[in-house]
Amino acid sequence: MLDGKKIVLGVTGGIAAYKAVEVASRLRQAGAEVHVIMTRAAKEFVTELTFREISGQPVASDMWAPVTHWNVAHIALANLADAFLIAPATANLLAKAAHGIADDMLTTTLLATPAPLFFAPAMNSRMYGHPATQQNIATLRSRGAHIIEPATGHLACGTDGPGRLPEPAVLVKALDDFFRPEKTLAGKNVLVTAAGTVEPIDPVRYIGNRSSGRMGYAIAAEAAARGAAVTLVSGPSSLTPPEGLKRFVPVETAAQMREAVLAVFPAIDIVIKAAAVADYRPMTVAPNKIKKDAGEITLRLEKNPDILRELGQRKQPGQILVGFAAETENLLAYAQSKLEKKNLDFIVANDVTKPGAGFNTETNLAKLIARNGTVEEFPLLSKRELAARLLDRITEKNKAEL
Ligand SMILES: Cc1cc2nc3c(=O)[nH]c(=O)nc-3n(C[C@H](O)[C@H](O)[C@H](O)COP(=O)(O)O)c2cc1C
Repeated sequence: MLDGKKIVLGVTGGIAAYKAVEVASRLRQAGAEVHVIMTRAAKEFVTELTFREISGQPVASDMWAPVTHWNVAHIALANLADAFLIAPATANLLAKAAHGIADDMLTTTLLATPAPLFFAPAMNSRMYGHPATQQNIATLRSRGAHIIEPATGHLACGTDGPGRLPEPAVLVKALDDFFRPEKTLAGKNVLVTAAGTVEPIDPVRYIGNRSSGRMGYAIAAEAAARGAAVTLVSGPSSLTPPEGLKRFVPVETAAQMREAVLAVFPAIDIVIKAAAVADYRPMTVAPNKIKKDAGEITLRLEKNPDILRELGQRKQPGQILVGFAAETENLLAYAQSKLEKKNLDFIVANDVTKPGAGFNTETNLAKLIARNGTVEEFPLLSKRELAARLLDRITEKNKAEL
């Protein structure tokens, strides 16, 4: 759920600050973009350098430092964050946040952000139990902040009781759960196709394309997270199939993809065809490896079946069919005519010549064209975020049928 999310990690001056290093690392491994803000006291415990290297981003801490990266100024971080996690949150930080004090980079940014706030208090048990701290926590909660309860156990100060920073995995899970979408697709059968098909020339060679499968896998993952029973039919891809699928069907050729898709289609509510299916295949497949000394060779190609068109013809009322158009010219016109010709409900159009769009990138730049002609243009987004926006629109515009 954290893939592509921008998380600001606030680190304050508690003994558990070292654990925040692992939090930053786990967030990044989960695909999040992590920006660390440290208090002056935090830097007594862990160096800025450690967080800079682990997060891969400059660390913000001094409000008065000359601006070398405008994007870490407090307002910029306040605006870009999808969520703030303050871990560990000292008694001091909780008090300042509860009272709107803004006397350093972290507290000032906290006041300026509209993003959801997560505080993970960590301190000596008496400090934690003190009415002042408890009152501050209650104030923050009443304003909608999320408080991640401290664990109980042995504390660095030598006592036992509540006040331990929970394990990094627990903190990351709290954010992950927050971003987990509602089960808006519960009870729905969704079919996603992904990656490119490969069309054999001989036992070792094939005609393929540059599709990595990332877009389709992101859609399958997002639909599964929303509670759908997802069948993912995929051409060869180096990606690991997402968790929570109902069925994963690996295929190689367009003909195999057609067979797999048609077999399940009657029971499907929403079909999203993100695969790059080869339009042509060699007419004959050599039974043995073609030798180098064959000299000049000519490959004769024949058309592959048009799976999307076939689905459009077989579509029943209530079934939603979404296609993709990856183009290098005349994007909108081509996509619109493909939508009509193939009886689609939506088409996702991307100009694969644009930087950050299309094949083998982590991001995509796309337009969603609906059957009624409306065009929605999305900014450059991670493929997972784009998958979420596409599913929002597809479900929203078809609530009646769904
Ligand atoms: C060794 C040491 C460990 C500390 N550990 C904690 C702690 O775990 N939790 C806490 O609330 N304060 C702790 N403090 C006190 C804070 O560092 C102090 O209140 C500081 O002003 C917090 O600043 P900050 O909230 O701006 O980071 C500790 C202080 C020292 C010297």
